[in-house]
Amino acid sequence: MGRESFGTTNRGEAVNVYTLTNAQGTELRVTNYGGIILSLKVPDRNGRLDDIVLGYDSLADYERSSPYFGAIIGRYGNRIARGRFTLDGKTYTLATNNGPNHLHGGVKGFDKVAWDAAPFARGDSVGLVFQHTSPDGDEGYPGTVRATVTYTLTAQNELILEYEATTDQATPINLTQHSYFNLAGDGKSDILGHVVTVNADAFTPVDSTLIPTGEIRNVTGTPFDFRTPTAIGARIAQDDEQLRYGRGYDHNFVLTKAGPAALVYEPSSGRVMEISTTEPGLQFYSGNFLDGTLRGKGGVVYRHRYGFAMETQHFPDSPNKPGFPSTILRPGGEYRSRTVYHFTVRP
Ligand code: GLA
Repeated sequence: MGRESFGTTNRGEAVNVYTLTNAQGTELRVTNYGGIILSLKVPDRNGRLDDIVLGYDSLADYERSSPYFGAIIGRYGNRIARGRFTLDGKTYTLATNNGPNHLHGGVKGFDKVAWDAAPFARGDSVGLVFQHTSPDGDEGYPGTVRATVTYTLTAQNELILEYEATTDQATPINLTQHSYFNLAGDGKSDILGHVVTVNADAFTPVDSTLIPTGEIRNVTGTPFDFRTPTAIGARIAQDDEQLRYGRGYDHNFVLTKAGPAALVYEPSSGRVMEISTTEPGLQFYSGNFLDGTLRGKGGVVYRHRYGFAMETQHFPDSPNKPGFPSTILRPGGEYRSRTVYHFTVRP
């Protein structure tokens, strides 16, 4: 495992880059700033390595303007309507950073903090343990939250993400990882040809500000039916109210409990990414807000839909949706979540 400096944040914290490798040639580079996955090189069907995640070369670029490239998201993945929720009779006001809503933990979420990092090696796996304490009142949330996120790279090309948290006051929590993938290789093309399977019979439709309405809608007969492998681009331009609101796919899928959550296949490289999770939901985001204004690694221009995210999570706006699985963590309780991204190839 290599470690080098990634520079100093604009708050004066020194941060590092850690390089993790395995015997298959897979290389994962991660910084403790936001727990950001900077690059992930995995083999294609001919054994050729490509970086399959979007991102920047410098810390300054991440600090200046990043659409959450590769970062840990907390305290709450996705949106909370109007940045407000009521818990045990008390109303809390959160930072609003996405139109009227709170998104991905607020102005300074877990994607923008310098985490403590401890590398480890166990058998033929290597990894990093990240820790961060979020103070009471952070971005408006109650309670002191201690969060631990562990990244493990195995010899089988699995990237295992494990999340744990405790609190001293009841509070919502919903941690996730916001890597943008392009299995053909970073900056090479849009992601519309990727063939996606999502193990979900239902999704949570949204309003025009991307807040779930509370409905759990069956995917049958909609462009959200990914139960059989379908190219991302096959139906994305259909005249559909939900696709209009999302400007494409930007929706939470209600995962079927048995089996992997999702599988993504990229035909030109043969790369396959299979996602398994303990979470009930998956936010599938087709990179709709990428519009050619961001320049990423090596100066590449990120055009429309040059990456997609699959964020395992509880459903957006759960603190305001009594019908959704609860995201409330209480003192004495322990938040635990586990997601595996498994990279393989097809001939
Ligand atoms: C999530 C959201 C999207 C967008 C991206 C970041 O996936 O659901 O609407 O905010 O993060 O740009």
